[in-house]
Amino acid sequence: MIRTLLKSLREYGKSAVLTMLVMTGEVLMETLIPYTMAQLIDQGFAEGNLPFIVKTGLVLVLYALVSMAFGSLGSLLGARAGTGFAKNLRGDMYHRIQAFSFANIDRFSTSSIITRLTTDVTNVQNAFTMSIRMAVRTPMTLIFSIVMTTFISWKFAVVTALAVPVLITAFVILGRKVFPIFMRVFKKYDRLNADVQENVRGIRVVKSFVRETYEEDKFRKTSGEIYSDFVTAERIMAWLNPVMMGTSYIMMLAIAFIGAYLIVGKDATTVSIMGETVTTGLLNSALSYTMQILMSCMGLSMVVIMIIMSRESMRRICEILKEEPAIRNPEDPVMEVADGSITFKDVNFRYSESAERNSLEDVDLEIPSGATVGIIGSTGSSKTTLVQLIPRLYDVSEGQVSVGHVDVRAYDLKTLRDAVSMVLQKNLLFAGTIRENLRWGNEHATDEEIREACRLAACDEFIANMPDGYDTFIEQGGSNVSGGQRQRLCIARALLKKPKVLILDDSTSAVDTATDARIRKSFREVIPETTKLIIAQRIASVREADMIIVMDNGRVIDVGDHDALMGRCAVYREVYDSQVKGGDGDAA
Ligand SMILES: Nc1ncnc2c1ncn2[C@@H]1O[C@H](COP(=O)(O)OP(=O)(O)OP(=O)(O)O)[C@@H](O)[C@H]1O
Ligand SMILES: [Mg+2]
Repeated sequence: MIRTLLKSLREYGKSAVLTMLVMTGEVLMETLIPYTMAQLIDQGFAEGNLPFIVKTGLVLVLYALVSMAFGSLGSLLGARAGTGFAKNLRGDMYHRIQAFSFANIDRFSTSSIITRLTTDVTNVQNAFTMSIRMAVRTPMTLIFSIVMTTFISWKFAVVTALAVPVLITAFVILGRKVFPIFMRVFKKYDRLNADVQENVRGIRVVKSFVRETYEEDKFRKTSGEIYSDFVTAERIMAWLNPVMMGTSYIMMLAIAFIGAYLIVGKDATTVSIMGETVTTGLLNSALSYTMQILMSCMGLSMVVIMIIMSRESMRRICEILKEEPAIRNPEDPVMEVADGSITFKDVNFRYSESAERNSLEDVDLEIPSGATVGIIGSTGSSKTTLVQLIPRLYDVSEGQVSVGHVDVRAYDLKTLRDAVSMVLQKNLLFAGTIRENLRWGNEHATDEEIREACRLAACDEFIANMPDGYDTFIEQGGSNVSGGQRQRLCIARALLKKPKVLILDDSTSAVDTATDARIRKSFREVIPETTKLIIAQRIASVREADMIIVMDNGRVIDVGDHDALMGRCAVYREVYDSQVKGGDGDAA
């Protein structure tokens, strides 16, 4: 897992390594300071040697300055490595997400993708920065301090060595209790994020169904659970500090006691009995080293906590980085789509391996280039599913879909999707001006081409009536235009690609019948070579089509023109009757 993540370090690897080196420099200085202090006390103060005091004092100041410089440099480098790492990680995830096919997106929810890109990356970044700062520094301090204490007196080292296991045991016991709580909290954060996101995105629905109180209660409950979990965790963690401090004070006491005994012993000429001499200065520095050992144990435990806390985040990031895009560009792709003919051969399709049934069964279709094709069927009959296979938004499970007599899987994806323009049922505009939104279809479109596409899609009039015309700003999601206006803008955007195949998935459902008819008429006259697939609920929208595909429950049950279908297809006739005679029938 860590290896996968570290691949994103790249150019910031150097900063990370430098951070560790600089931190080692700081540790070295910090180790020298107490020892020099000891000399200052023993040889300077004790003997009243003023020149020595001044000289050693200056050396101490120098050490302190160098140590501080290393410290700040280390922080700076560490921050650079950490933020750079996060930047690359986000970039890599984003890149991967862009390559996701619809099938991949079905697997992750939108809110979960966003949480992973934001909160999870921040968690990992913090753990990483902390680790590179502490990972070298803390063990180094530990080793240097232990060496120095041993150098001063092995008895001190024994005391220290006894304390370390106590600290580790305390840490492990507390950790065992706390980590599961933290894990739980993170899962809940996810739910909180998902709730908030769903609520804010769907705020209009929430309001129109007067669900504010319910939503607020739901939020308060999750939020409250997070609060109480955190309090419990912190209550346990609160023990860590006293245990560490207590242990360290006991250590210091022990050292002071041994030291005092040695020093006093020396003055009382019992040096030979103890076999060792310890001066006041050295005793003092031994106490400093003990403090450093304690601090590094604390530091180490912090690093471990951070890493474990970010483990869940790491896993969630890796899940995205390792997700294989379900649809990839083939090797040696076909770079040109010959014409707009479409064939379906023995096509079966199911949304996921685990789906219980096929969403498309035994579909065989032959659509000549330039035809106008209507698709009719009850809701859930797989109309959308059928057309999504043409621009390869999903791949067939079995069989073959071809455009221009070539299997869609053989095309370069961009080539195919430029040739097959689809207005999705859940159409969407992006924040930006109308002109910018339309240019999504073709970034090099001239103003004349844009106006032409808008005429075709019957949106020229309402754009002209807008205060800034084509420069009118569309809010995120297109919330400041009406449903029907949005549909027509999306059609215009699709037309700008000058596609060989144009698919409209229920794209005129919110447009009045007269405008709908005007759009169809202009399609017939202005883009006769383009194959047009029109999914519609209204028979009127497909009535003049060259062929009409009738779908029911994932199957194509009939194909033919209006008159033929009226003659032989019961389902089609039923739909027709319900729409044309619907009102009269009820009245009669
Ligand atoms: N992303 C998806 N993952 C899993 N199942 C799906 C997905 N999208 C659609 N389905 C299922 O596939 C079936 C066909 O759905 P589809 O959207 O193609 O119907 P439709 O004919 O377009 O309906 P409508 O007229 O309401 O748009 C439905 O049973 C639906 O539950
Ligand atoms: Mg649909």
